[in-house]
Amino acid sequence: MMSPAPLKQSALRLDVQGLEQKVGSRVLLAGGMGFSIPAGAFVGLLGPSGSGKSTLLKACCGLQKPTKGKVLLNGEDFYKNPGPWRSQLGYVPQDDIIHQELTVEKAVDYAARLRLPVDLSPERRKALVSRVIAEVGLQERLKVRIRKLSGGQRKRASVAVELLSRPGLLFLDEPTSGQDPKLEEDMMRLFRGLSREGATVVVTTHAMASIELLDTVLLLQGGWLVYMGPPQDLLEFFDSRSYEGIFRILAKDNPVQWAQRFRSSKYASHLRGY
Ligand SMILES: Nc1ncnc2c1ncn2[C@@H]1O[C@H](COP(=O)(O)OP(=O)(O)OP(=O)(O)O)[C@@H](O)[C@H]1O
Ligand SMILES: [Mg+2]
Repeated sequence: MMSPAPLKQSALRLDVQGLEQKVGSRVLLAGGMGFSIPAGAFVGLLGPSGSGKSTLLKACCGLQKPTKGKVLLNGEDFYKNPGPWRSQLGYVPQDDIIHQELTVEKAVDYAARLRLPVDLSPERRKALVSRVIAEVGLQERLKVRIRKLSGGQRKRASVAVELLSRPGLLFLDEPTSGQDPKLEEDMMRLFRGLSREGATVVVTTHAMASIELLDTVLLLQGGWLVYMGPPQDLLEFFDSRSYEGIFRILAKDNPVQWAQRFRSSKYASHLRGY
Protein backbone atom coordinates (compact mmCIF):
# COMPACT_ATOMS: atom_id res chain seq x y z
CA MET A 1 0.00 0.00 0.00
CA MET A 2 1.25 3.46 -0.82
CA SER A 3 1.74 5.59 2.24
CA PRO A 4 -0.48 8.69 2.30
CA ALA A 5 0.90 12.12 1.59
CA PRO A 6 1.48 13.95 4.87
CA LEU A 7 -0.54 17.02 5.73
CA LYS A 8 2.20 19.47 5.01
CA GLN A 9 2.90 22.91 6.42
CA SER A 10 5.62 25.25 5.24
CA ALA A 11 8.90 25.75 7.03
CA LEU A 12 9.16 28.81 9.30
CA ARG A 13 12.07 31.16 9.77
CA LEU A 14 13.07 31.76 13.39
CA ASP A 15 14.82 34.89 14.63
CA VAL A 16 15.86 35.53 18.19
CA GLN A 17 16.79 39.08 19.20
CA GLY A 18 18.32 40.35 22.44
CA LEU A 19 17.05 37.36 24.39
CA GLU A 20 17.51 37.11 28.11
CA GLN A 21 15.85 34.68 30.51
CA LYS A 22 15.90 35.22 34.26
CA VAL A 23 14.24 33.42 37.16
CA GLY A 24 14.40 35.78 40.13
CA SER A 25 17.95 37.06 40.08
CA ARG A 26 19.24 33.94 38.37
CA VAL A 27 20.26 34.42 34.74
CA LEU A 28 19.48 31.35 32.63
CA LEU A 29 20.11 32.88 29.21
CA ALA A 30 22.45 35.83 28.97
CA GLY A 31 24.23 38.19 26.70
CA GLY A 32 21.23 39.47 24.77
CA MET A 33 21.26 36.33 22.69
CA GLY A 34 20.52 36.80 19.01
CA PHE A 35 20.57 34.58 15.95
CA SER A 36 18.66 33.67 12.85
CA ILE A 37 17.58 30.25 11.65
CA PRO A 38 16.46 30.15 8.02
CA ALA A 39 13.34 28.25 6.98
CA GLY A 40 14.11 24.61 6.34
CA ALA A 41 17.33 24.40 8.37
CA PHE A 42 18.27 21.43 10.52
CA VAL A 43 19.76 22.91 13.67
CA GLY A 44 21.37 21.30 16.70
CA LEU A 45 21.45 22.89 20.13
CA LEU A 46 24.46 21.58 22.03
CA GLY A 47 26.07 22.29 25.35
CA PRO A 48 26.91 20.81 28.73
CA SER A 49 24.13 19.77 31.10
CA GLY A 50 22.55 22.87 32.65
CA SER A 51 23.83 25.21 29.93
CA GLY A 52 20.33 26.42 29.00
CA LYS A 53 19.35 24.28 26.01
CA SER A 54 15.86 23.37 27.28
CA THR A 55 15.35 26.93 28.52
CA LEU A 56 16.13 28.30 25.04
CA LEU A 57 13.81 25.80 23.36
CA LYS A 58 10.98 26.71 25.71
CA ALA A 59 11.51 30.42 25.03
CA CYS A 60 11.40 29.77 21.27
CA CYS A 61 8.32 27.53 21.25
CA GLY A 62 6.10 29.78 23.37
CA LEU A 63 6.21 27.94 26.69
CA GLN A 64 8.29 30.45 28.62
CA LYS A 65 8.22 34.12 27.67
CA PRO A 66 11.71 35.58 27.78
CA THR A 67 12.42 38.25 30.37
CA LYS A 68 13.86 40.41 27.60
CA GLY A 69 14.11 40.24 23.85
CA LYS A 70 12.03 38.90 21.02
CA VAL A 71 11.27 35.70 19.19
CA LEU A 72 10.20 36.26 15.59
CA LEU A 73 8.50 33.71 13.36
CA ASN A 74 8.66 34.61 9.68
CA GLY A 75 9.54 38.12 10.89
CA GLU A 76 6.53 38.51 13.19
CA ASP A 77 6.67 38.95 16.95
CA PHE A 78 5.60 35.54 18.28
CA TYR A 79 4.82 36.55 21.88
CA LYS A 80 2.79 39.55 20.76
CA ASN A 81 0.31 37.31 19.00
CA PRO A 82 1.09 33.62 19.59
CA GLY A 83 -2.35 32.21 18.69
CA PRO A 84 -2.04 31.81 14.91
CA TRP A 85 1.41 30.22 15.19
CA ARG A 86 0.57 27.52 17.70
CA SER A 87 -0.75 25.00 15.19
CA GLN A 88 2.42 25.36 13.11
CA LEU A 89 4.76 24.52 15.96
CA GLY A 90 5.70 21.13 17.34
CA TYR A 91 7.51 20.49 20.60
CA VAL A 92 8.76 17.24 22.10
CA PRO A 93 9.78 17.94 25.69
CA GLN A 94 12.71 16.35 27.45
CA ASP A 95 10.35 14.52 29.85
CA ASP A 96 7.60 12.16 28.74
CA ILE A 97 4.09 13.53 28.59
CA ILE A 98 2.43 10.84 26.54
CA HIS A 99 -0.33 8.87 28.30
CA GLN A 100 1.27 5.90 30.07
CA GLU A 101 -1.70 3.50 30.05
CA LEU A 102 -2.52 3.68 26.34
CA THR A 103 -0.93 1.42 23.75
CA VAL A 104 1.35 3.02 21.17
CA GLU A 105 -1.33 2.76 18.50
CA LYS A 106 -4.06 4.19 20.76
CA ALA A 107 -1.86 7.02 22.04
CA VAL A 108 -0.96 8.18 18.54
CA ASP A 109 -4.52 7.72 17.29
CA TYR A 110 -5.82 9.72 20.25
CA ALA A 111 -3.42 12.55 19.41
CA ALA A 112 -4.49 12.35 15.76
CA ARG A 113 -8.16 12.76 16.72
CA LEU A 114 -7.30 15.82 18.77
CA ARG A 115 -4.97 17.49 16.34
CA LEU A 116 -5.85 16.60 12.79
CA PRO A 117 -8.68 18.27 10.85
CA VAL A 118 -12.12 16.99 11.93
CA ASP A 119 -13.13 16.27 8.34
CA LEU A 120 -10.28 13.81 7.85
CA SER A 121 -11.69 10.37 6.99
CA PRO A 122 -11.06 7.55 9.52
CA GLU A 123 -9.17 5.60 6.81
CA ARG A 124 -6.83 8.47 6.15
CA ARG A 125 -6.35 9.09 9.86
CA LYS A 126 -5.51 5.44 10.36
CA ALA A 127 -3.04 5.52 7.48
CA LEU A 128 -1.33 8.62 8.88
CA VAL A 129 -1.11 7.04 12.34
CA SER A 130 0.55 3.94 10.83
CA ARG A 131 2.86 6.12 8.79
CA VAL A 132 4.27 8.15 11.70
CA ILE A 133 4.62 5.02 13.87
CA ALA A 134 6.64 3.41 11.07
CA GLU A 135 8.71 6.57 10.62
CA VAL A 136 9.98 6.29 14.19
CA GLY A 137 10.40 2.51 13.91
CA LEU A 138 7.73 1.46 16.40
CA GLN A 139 5.56 -0.67 14.09
CA GLU A 140 6.48 -3.82 16.06
CA ARG A 141 5.30 -2.22 19.32
CA LEU A 142 1.80 -1.13 18.26
CA LYS A 143 -0.11 -2.98 20.99
CA VAL A 144 2.33 -2.32 23.82
CA ARG A 145 1.36 0.09 26.58
CA ILE A 146 3.50 3.24 26.71
CA ARG A 147 4.62 2.52 30.28
CA LYS A 148 6.00 -0.86 29.15
CA LEU A 149 8.20 0.63 26.45
CA SER A 150 11.89 1.27 26.96
CA GLY A 151 12.91 4.90 27.57
CA GLY A 152 14.14 5.27 23.99
CA GLN A 153 10.95 3.79 22.56
CA ARG A 154 8.81 6.12 24.70
CA LYS A 155 10.74 9.05 23.33
CA ARG A 156 10.10 7.85 19.80
CA ALA A 157 6.37 7.57 20.55
CA SER A 158 6.41 11.26 21.58
CA VAL A 159 8.17 12.13 18.33
CA ALA A 160 5.55 10.17 16.31
CA VAL A 161 2.79 12.29 17.85
CA GLU A 162 4.51 15.50 16.74
CA LEU A 163 5.04 14.16 13.22
CA LEU A 164 1.26 13.82 12.74
CA SER A 165 0.67 17.48 12.11
CA ARG A 166 3.89 18.03 10.10
CA PRO A 167 4.72 21.30 11.89
CA GLY A 168 6.58 24.02 10.00
CA LEU A 169 8.85 24.48 13.01
CA LEU A 170 9.66 21.48 15.14
CA PHE A 171 11.53 21.61 18.46
CA LEU A 172 12.82 18.35 19.91
CA ASP A 173 14.45 18.28 23.33
CA GLU A 174 16.89 15.36 23.40
CA PRO A 175 14.85 13.07 21.17
CA THR A 176 17.79 10.68 20.81
CA SER A 177 18.54 10.26 24.51
CA GLY A 178 18.22 6.59 25.40
CA GLN A 179 18.57 5.45 21.77
CA ASP A 180 21.23 3.01 20.66
CA PRO A 181 23.77 4.40 18.15
CA LYS A 182 21.96 3.05 15.08
CA LEU A 183 18.57 4.38 16.17
CA GLU A 184 20.14 7.68 17.05
CA GLU A 185 21.51 8.02 13.55
CA ASP A 186 18.22 6.85 12.01
CA MET A 187 16.34 9.49 13.99
CA MET A 188 18.76 12.25 13.09
CA ARG A 189 18.39 11.25 9.43
CA LEU A 190 14.60 11.30 9.82
CA PHE A 191 14.77 14.85 11.26
CA ARG A 192 17.11 15.98 8.52
CA GLY A 193 14.67 14.49 6.00
CA LEU A 194 11.81 16.46 7.57
CA SER A 195 13.82 19.65 7.20
CA ARG A 196 14.34 18.86 3.52
CA GLU A 197 10.60 18.31 3.05
CA GLY A 198 9.55 21.71 4.40
CA ALA A 199 10.13 22.00 8.15
CA THR A 200 12.62 23.89 10.25
CA VAL A 201 13.92 21.44 12.84
CA VAL A 202 15.72 22.35 16.07
CA VAL A 203 16.99 19.51 18.18
CA THR A 204 18.95 19.47 21.43
CA THR A 205 21.36 16.61 21.76
CA HIS A 206 24.37 15.28 23.65
CA ALA A 207 25.10 12.83 20.85
CA MET A 208 28.12 13.79 18.82
CA ALA A 209 28.15 10.93 16.31
CA SER A 210 25.56 12.46 13.98
CA ILE A 211 26.56 16.08 14.38
CA GLU A 212 27.63 16.42 10.74
CA LEU A 213 24.06 15.80 9.62
CA LEU A 214 23.20 19.23 11.05
CA ASP A 215 23.28 22.37 8.93
CA THR A 216 24.04 24.54 11.93
CA VAL A 217 25.16 24.04 15.49
CA LEU A 218 24.36 26.38 18.36
CA LEU A 219 26.57 25.75 21.36
CA LEU A 220 25.62 27.04 24.80
CA GLN A 221 27.73 27.23 27.91
CA GLY A 222 26.41 28.61 31.20
CA GLY A 223 23.53 30.37 29.42
CA TRP A 224 25.78 32.05 26.82
CA LEU A 225 25.89 31.41 23.10
CA VAL A 226 29.51 30.44 22.54
CA TYR A 227 29.30 29.20 18.95
CA MET A 228 26.89 29.22 16.04
CA GLY A 229 27.74 27.93 12.60
CA PRO A 230 28.36 24.80 10.57
CA PRO A 231 29.57 21.72 12.48
CA GLN A 232 32.84 21.60 10.53
CA ASP A 233 33.90 25.08 11.70
CA LEU A 234 33.15 24.11 15.29
CA LEU A 235 36.24 21.91 15.41
CA GLU A 236 38.32 24.67 13.88
CA PHE A 237 37.07 27.36 16.25
CA PHE A 238 37.81 25.27 19.34
CA ASP A 239 40.97 23.85 17.79
CA SER A 240 39.74 20.36 18.63
CA ARG A 241 40.20 17.10 16.76
CA SER A 242 36.93 15.59 17.97
CA TYR A 243 33.48 16.94 18.82
CA GLU A 244 33.65 15.25 22.23
CA GLY A 245 36.90 17.10 22.96
CA ILE A 246 35.10 20.45 22.69
CA PHE A 247 33.37 19.90 26.02
CA ARG A 248 36.72 19.50 27.76
CA ILE A 249 38.10 22.61 26.05
CA LEU A 250 34.94 24.57 26.94
CA ALA A 251 35.38 23.77 30.63
CA LYS A 252 38.79 25.46 30.65
CA ASP A 253 37.36 28.98 30.38
CA ASN A 254 34.26 30.74 31.57
CA PRO A 255 31.23 31.26 29.30
CA VAL A 256 31.68 35.02 29.00
CA GLN A 257 35.22 34.57 27.71
CA TRP A 258 34.14 32.00 25.15
CA ALA A 259 31.17 34.13 24.06
CA GLN A 260 33.44 37.16 23.55
CA ARG A 261 36.07 35.11 21.77
CA PHE A 262 33.45 33.73 19.42
CA ARG A 263 31.84 37.13 18.81
CA SER A 264 35.14 38.64 17.75
CA SER A 265 36.15 35.68 15.56
CA LYS A 266 35.66 35.31 11.83
CA TYR A 267 33.21 32.47 12.57
CA ALA A 268 30.68 34.97 13.94
CA SER A 269 30.53 37.19 10.87
CA HIS A 270 27.04 35.89 10.02
CA LEU A 271 25.82 37.08 13.44
CA ARG A 272 26.71 40.74 13.03
CA GLY A 273 23.62 42.81 13.61
CA TYR A 274 21.96 40.35 16.01
N1 LIG B 1 12.39 27.34 36.49
C1 LIG B 1 13.66 27.42 36.86
N2 LIG B 1 14.05 28.09 37.95
C2 LIG B 1 15.33 28.22 38.30
N3 LIG B 1 16.34 27.68 37.60
C3 LIG B 1 16.02 26.98 36.50
C4 LIG B 1 14.69 26.81 36.06
N4 LIG B 1 14.70 26.07 34.94
C5 LIG B 1 15.98 25.79 34.70
N5 LIG B 1 16.78 26.33 35.63
C6 LIG B 1 18.25 26.29 35.67
O1 LIG B 1 18.72 26.84 34.45
C7 LIG B 1 19.86 26.16 33.99
C8 LIG B 1 19.63 25.67 32.58
O2 LIG B 1 18.66 24.64 32.60
P1 LIG B 1 18.23 23.86 31.27
O3 LIG B 1 17.20 22.88 31.68
O4 LIG B 1 17.88 24.84 30.24
O5 LIG B 1 19.61 23.12 30.90
P2 LIG B 1 19.93 22.08 29.74
O6 LIG B 1 21.04 22.65 28.94
O7 LIG B 1 18.67 21.73 29.04
O8 LIG B 1 20.49 20.83 30.57
P3 LIG B 1 20.35 19.24 30.29
O9 LIG B 1 21.38 18.90 29.23
O10 LIG B 1 20.71 18.64 31.61
O11 LIG B 1 18.95 18.97 29.88
C9 LIG B 1 20.13 25.05 35.01
O12 LIG B 1 21.13 25.48 35.88
C10 LIG B 1 18.80 24.88 35.73
O13 LIG B 1 19.00 24.48 37.05
MG1 LIG C 1 17.59 20.05 28.89
